[in-house]
Amino acid sequence: MDPSDECLKLSSQNTLPRHVAIIMDGNSRWAEAKSLPRVAGHKEGAQAVKRCIQGAIRNDIQWLTLYAFSSENWRRTPEEVADLTALLRFYLKFEARKLHKEGVRVRIIGDSKRFDPKLQKQFDEIEALTKNNTRLILTLALSYGGRGEIIQAVQRIVQDVQAQQIDPEQITEDLFSNYLFAPDVPDPDLIVRTSGESRLSNFLLWQSAYAELIFVETLWPDFNEDHFNDILSVYIRRERRFGTRPGLKISDK
Ligand code: IPE
Ligand code: IPE
Ligand code: MG
Repeated sequence: MDPSDECLKLSSQNTLPRHVAIIMDGNSRWAEAKSLPRVAGHKEGAQAVKRCIQGAIRNDIQWLTLYAFSSENWRRTPEEVADLTALLRFYLKFEARKLHKEGVRVRIIGDSKRFDPKLQKQFDEIEALTKNNTRLILTLALSYGGRGEIIQAVQRIVQDVQAQQIDPEQITEDLFSNYLFAPDVPDPDLIVRTSGESRLSNFLLWQSAYAELIFVETLWPDFNEDHFNDILSVYIRRERRFGTRPGLKISDK
């Protein structure tokens, strides 16, 4: 199929997104509003992750990417970083089997080497346990930054050029994408951010080129399946154009 035909098809179909990516924000404000310590917001945020995964499974979403910890989040206090990593350890320990049973494949993207070796081992274990599952591909972005991801791609491409495995002329968008953390995952169709903030905060900078963006006021710990469904219904009313002229329908071809 000619690539422009593919765009026409995509721009006029009111289908669900294949890949939903979420910036899970607002945990601390949720806790502060209830006069609770910040960690209480992160704990309830972990419950919201479970509800979100259920929402994705019920809607047959194939790829879900959750931004759980940014490369900049290391700048938080040592206490908060310790709370977040402890929660992550707890979450992986208790959810691994359940996720596996539900047919979820878990992948981790980011600079995982910055986490302590025990946690890195858990990342490897959950990836190995769930590697053959296909119902939902859940990517957890941990110690993740879009700029860092692009830089590591550039470094590896330069190495391959120096080793004469590729020619500089061969560097295309497709080749570049192959050096990102999860080259086999399609670009997100939809990026959602909770808590009323309207920014990407270094999330999927390369992959977000043509993503639909939805910003909702809900604080992440309040997020539930109804919110997930509401977001999908906003998405399906959007018209994706990919640079084609507005309002073009397949029937106009
Ligand atoms: C999001 O909640 C979780 C992480 C960034 C780890 P925040 O802790 O950023 O909550 P707010 O945005 O300050 O309310
Ligand atoms: C982005 O949220 C990262 C995650 C949700 C994991 P932040 O709360 O860290 O982002 P800023 O600082 O408000 O941009
Ligand atoms: Mg925040």
